[in-house]
Amino acid sequence: MKRSLVTVCILALPIAVALLTARSSTAGPEKIEFPANWEKYVLYTIVDRYDVKQYRELYASSQEAVDAMKRGQPLPDRTVLVLVQYKAQADAQGNPLKNASGRFLKGDRIGFTVMEKRQGWGAEYPGDLRNGEWEYSAFGTDGRFNANANYTGCFQCHKPHEKQDFVISLAGLMGGGGTTGTGAPDVRISGFSFGPPRLTAAPGQAVMWINNDDSPHQITLTASKARGPVLTKGQSYSHTFAAAGTYDYVCGLHPNMKGQVEVK
Ligand code: CO
Repeated sequence: MKRSLVTVCILALPIAVALLTARSSTAGPEKIEFPANWEKYVLYTIVDRYDVKQYRELYASSQEAVDAMKRGQPLPDRTVLVLVQYKAQADAQGNPLKNASGRFLKGDRIGFTVMEKRQGWGAEYPGDLRNGEWEYSAFGTDGRFNANANYTGCFQCHKPHEKQDFVISLAGLMGGGGTTGTGAPDVRISGFSFGPPRLTAAPGQAVMWINNDDSPHQITLTASKARGPVLTKGQSYSHTFAAAGTYDYVCGLHPNMKGQVEVK
């Protein structure tokens, strides 16, 4: 098993290098330069990521960009948004420690993810992937470009947020939005987890999820791969399980978020 993995990696490496070289003049993450002065940017929100136990700070290159986000308008040309990732401080069992407000405590810095918008960028991407004029890039703690990051994942995850100029953390700045569900939800999505994570329902009974997080989430059934809509803060989704059985589900945007519905 180990040997075959190594073989695959050795074979794949020259191909990956060749692809990067071929792409460098046209499209891709290498267009973005590491924003060395990110500490002078505007800190506009802090996100606790329960699923990956990270404390994240989000910076914008200008106050104009933050103001545009708050107004729900497209961000200015040449806006740079920087996500600084830190480990959350944890106890001996690995559980994140929290301050008096229930927020994570900043641990060691892990790296940077940057999104930058420039006039004319993005034209070479297919329509179902393109994020307007945005590109994404990842950097290590030393500011060195990370060629191995999953850049397609960046585009896929931000694509549903086209109406807010592909900026996911905007939902929190706007104080939520979307339609509030009627009736009592069965599962509350909060802090990147499903509560309760396991639920029992009768066949034909609707199960309702409501998203209480600033981050969007998406109920996705593991076996059938059926995806519900992307839920922004306050939005709910109902699904009826017709047949008895055990249904595992995840968040389509954060696959570490796991839940289960037992139908009997
Ligand atoms: Co999620």
